[in-house]
Amino acid sequence: MKKTLSAFSLLLFTTQAYSQNGVLDLTKLANYANQPVPAYILRNNTPGGANPNPITDAGATLGRVLFYDKRLSHNNTISCSSCHQQAFAFGDPAVASTGVAGTTGRHSMRLVNSRFSAERKFFWDERAATLEAQTTRPIQDHVEMGFSGTEGDPAFADLVTRLNAIEEYRVLFAATFGTSTINETRVSRALAQFVRSIQSFDSKYDIGRAQVANNGDPFPNFTTQENAGKIIFSTPPGGPGGGAGCAGCHRAPEFDVDPNSLNNGITNSFSGTPDLTNTRSPSLRDIFRVDLNRPNGPFMHDGSLNNLTDIINHYVAPATNANLDPRLQRPPLNLNAGQRNDLAAFMRTLSGTAIYTDPKWSSPFNAEGQLTLIVLPTVATDLQPGSVGTANVTSKGVSGLPYRVEASTNLSQWDIVTTINADASGNLQHPIATNTYPPMFYRFTYIPPGS
Ligand code: HEC
Ligand code: HEC
Repeated sequence: MKKTLSAFSLLLFTTQAYSQNGVLDLTKLANYANQPVPAYILRNNTPGGANPNPITDAGATLGRVLFYDKRLSHNNTISCSSCHQQAFAFGDPAVASTGVAGTTGRHSMRLVNSRFSAERKFFWDERAATLEAQTTRPIQDHVEMGFSGTEGDPAFADLVTRLNAIEEYRVLFAATFGTSTINETRVSRALAQFVRSIQSFDSKYDIGRAQVANNGDPFPNFTTQENAGKIIFSTPPGGPGGGAGCAGCHRAPEFDVDPNSLNNGITNSFSGTPDLTNTRSPSLRDIFRVDLNRPNGPFMHDGSLNNLTDIINHYVAPATNANLDPRLQRPPLNLNAGQRNDLAAFMRTLSGTAIYTDPKWSSPFNAEGQLTLIVLPTVATDLQPGSVGTANVTSKGVSGLPYRVEASTNLSQWDIVTTINADASGNLQHPIATNTYPPMFYRFTYIPPGS
């Protein structure tokens, strides 16, 4: 079996380089793996067991690059982010999204807090058994990204060939998986890590929930109206004091969908044929963007509802159908205008602000679609295991200045190998033994005076 020895170098003069657009510093990965999750959040669909896929900083970083890379569509025009936009809680303001060959068959889904659900199946109709099974489907969809291998499209293997020719991907796959091999499983796992990392727990709801023992207790930071709306959301319908029963399916505090939910009475489709199969909803968190005072809609699989009022009015008396959830086969809700406003006020408390702006979920590419990795490959040699030789790690520095040569296997822990000075032309060169396994990363770090 062939293994790849990859050597990389880094020039580090000032820290300003890190904040540049289109520059990804692999020596300072963003925190995806250990983000704080509130103690009351218990549902989590991250696979464990025999085939775990926990979020790692390197894996989610690779997933982020893939998510924003238009080269994942056959004609280089569409990325996941075309239809899952950060400004809309990773949904699409268009009713139907535009792919490489037309528009989608259903409305796009917001991806916020996808990780925090008991439901493990994905898509409106739950046709993907796991998020890992979902994430490469859009790439292989003829309409969405066009590596379908049918209808004259290239196949997924052609995408692998394309990615293999991009040196940055070989660096990122090696940093994530230990070797630079690119295949469908690895693409799907990295994308799933990135999607699971997109979390929102800085909402008004969370600030209140952290201060009380139970979701049912009044939240000290809520207005009277918001607390009243919370009761309406949570209380089953029927009788005096009956609520809207939303929480039966959209369960606090994750607001994930009950895995046993049937459909909610929205059965329209873009094709005109009734669509009774949709039984999943994204988390109701961030359905509204509070800082811009606008809904992140349109909503539902047919994108037919535009705002919170439309949604509440729909649930007052959902039209019946063969797959309508029994909980919705009930007399119309008895909610007056004030109570509907209370419910809408509560639904607005489920939204945070960080997901819309945090750079770690934004595009790593610059406006021209370019991406520079700060850890730059300088040598990439295919070697047989056990072969012995020397390769030179080289880079460009400033003549006469001192640099540390540092080595890492995982891009987070760096060991100092030695220190050298750049030569008269500014060249940095350090010989390494090429039988060093596992794959190592190298960088040159400038040593400022007095350090
Ligand atoms: C052309 C638009 C488009 C592109 C490109 C696209 N998606 Fe989607 N995405 C959708 C639509 C539409 C749905 C809902 C489809 C359905 O359920 O039938 C969806 C659903 C999803 C879901 C399911 C969410 C849930 O809660 O069940 C995930 C996850 C997802 N997409 C991730 C991705 C990833 C990752 C990529 C890139 C590899 C991607 N999407 C590319 C339009 C798109
Ligand atoms: C019986 C289960 C059930 C109940 C009860 C229920 N829902 Fe839903 N909800 C769903 C399902 C299933 C969907 C996905 C529907 C679709 O698009 O096909 C959904 C979708 C939604 C959406 C759209 C999400 C999106 O991203 O487009 C919102 C918002 C929503 N529900 C709010 C509510 C509110 C508010 C209530 C209470 C008045 C409520 N739901 C009661 C099952 C339920």
